[in-house]
Amino acid sequence: MLEPERILRLEVGRVVFLDQRRLPTEEVDVACTTAAEVADAIRTMVVRGAPAIGVAAAYGIALAAERGEDLSEADRVLRTSRPTAINLMWALDEMKRDPSAEHARQIHRDEVERCRQMSAHASTLVKPGSRAMTHCNAGGLATGGYGSAVGAIIASFEQGLIDHVWVDETRPLLQGARLTAWELEHAGIPFSVIPDSAAAAFMARGEVDVIFTGADRIARNGDTANKIGTYGLAVNAKHHTVPFYIVAPTSTIDPATADGSGIPIEERDQTEVTARFPARNPAFDVTPAGLIHAIVTEQGVHRAPYGDTLPLSGVGA
Ligand code: MRU
Repeated sequence: MLEPERILRLEVGRVVFLDQRRLPTEEVDVACTTAAEVADAIRTMVVRGAPAIGVAAAYGIALAAERGEDLSEADRVLRTSRPTAINLMWALDEMKRDPSAEHARQIHRDEVERCRQMSAHASTLVKPGSRAMTHCNAGGLATGGYGSAVGAIIASFEQGLIDHVWVDETRPLLQGARLTAWELEHAGIPFSVIPDSAAAAFMARGEVDVIFTGADRIARNGDTANKIGTYGLAVNAKHHTVPFYIVAPTSTIDPATADGSGIPIEERDQTEVTARFPARNPAFDVTPAGLIHAIVTEQGVHRAPYGDTLPLSGVGA
């Protein structure tokens, strides 16, 4: 398992990231020396995944404070680096209280600890011999260590509950085929990468027992934004009666957003899809709460109606 500091860390005068754009081919670090450079690393997805970009932003503020940068400008440039994951705004609000390096490192440690706790809770939902499916990358790379959905799979595997993992490749940036596959290989968990378009067929053949994904933002009613394609998985899971679970820390819950219609969806550059033809590239979609069997946080397993059961400790709570 990758050490949290290998994924991202604060050093004197710089924030260092393992460049996720170049994995699994190359393990290369990128060092940022200003908050604006950290914001650029988030925007260009050197670092990605909701909790990890929150931690990155916290380190960006700590760096800015150490350098004597204007903290409200640092906050602005980091806050606008990506729109959908609420963990970014949550971490920046946390850092307003205390912009110190120690506080940023504490946020990082806390997120990893939340992952361990939610993964243990999620493993109670898994039956022996399960074939799990996941989408995008919600592993340690995405959370700053251990992982949420992938953490749930690792914790379940360690208890002997998982036989195999179906890894959706996750077009267009291949977070599944590049990052989740790399992490599962390191963890020694049997897996196969599949085209996103094959997920429904594997469910139809009865080869999927459980689906775990992470989340970028969970509205008060449980509607959940995650990587584009998650909604389709949830629809198919309902059709094939496969349990579909979201695993995410409470820093991903947005009490200020009543339902999924209020979640801003990032639209990325068309050239990530094709440079030759006109294209659209929404990076996320919203899965309605009604398609989610349970949302698992570090506080436990939450069931519908989520408005009554979700712990509201995030932004605006
Ligand atoms: O565009 P990305 O790679 O940042 O999208 C990441 C996801 O959608 C993850 O599933 C989500 O952030 C949860 S990470 C624990």
